[in-house]
This record gives sequence, structure tokens and C-alpha cells, in this order.
Amino acid sequence: MSQVVRFSVSLEPELLEDFDRYCRARHYPTRSEAVRHLIREKLTQEAWEADEQEVTATLTLVYDHHRSQLVSKLLDLQHHHVEQVVSTMHVHLDHHRCLEVIVLRGKAGRLRQMADELQTLKGVYQGHLVVASSKTSLPA
Ligand code: NI
Repeated sequence: MSQVVRFSVSLEPELLEDFDRYCRARHYPTRSEAVRHLIREKLTQEAWEADEQEVTATLTLVYDHHRSQLVSKLLDLQHHHVEQVVSTMHVHLDHHRCLEVIVLRGKAGRLRQMADELQTLKGVYQGHLVVASSKTSLPA
């Protein structure tokens, strides 16, 4: 077996409960195996998409709109990348949380970069970039 490295991760208890439920449902023998699988899957997906490929994608964010400056930072970044932002849908989930689905179009590398800038802001609980289509995947 190749060498392994241990690292610790801080999670909210509810998120860990959800993760453990996920592990049981998928029959992962250990949390480590599930984390390895998820990391490999994510890295493979990242590598597969060429940065220069034109794609259409959605970025889904769940965030705390009470977090200081977060809403204006999210807006500033979307205006900064105005050529990539096609449309935005906003849903008020509850008193604290907002759901935002942003439709993006452009080079995969640019979209990933923009998604990283948005989903790593403090107060963003979740961020998922899903590639909906690419020119090369369309029938001729
Ligand atoms: Ni809202």
C-alpha cells in the first residue's frame, strides 16, 4: 500500500451526520474511503474538462445573507464577470439562507475560476458548478 497522510477536517455536527448517512447508504467501509473516492472523482472531473473549452454551466450557491458584505461581494463578482453571467435565479430558502442559481457561459477555465471565487467566500455554505453542455458534446 502506498504511503498515506492523515489530516483533520472541521465540520458542523449536522454535516457530519449527513456525511455518515451518505457513507452508509453507499456502503463505504470507512469515512476515509468515501473521502478518497469523492476527492478522486472531483479531481478527475476537473482534469477532464479542458480550460479552453466553451461550455454552459450552472453554479448553485447556498449562503447566509446575514453574513457581513457577502451579498455585495457576490454581486460585485458577478458584475466583474458580466460576460460570463447569462442569468441568475434567487430563492429565499428561509430567514437566513438564500439559494442562488447562476447560469454561466464561457471557457471552462474561466467559469471554474469564477465559481471558485464565489463559492469560497465566507458565509457560502455550498457551491456546485455543473457543466450543462459543451460545444464538443453537441451532435454534429
Ligand atoms: Ni434571499
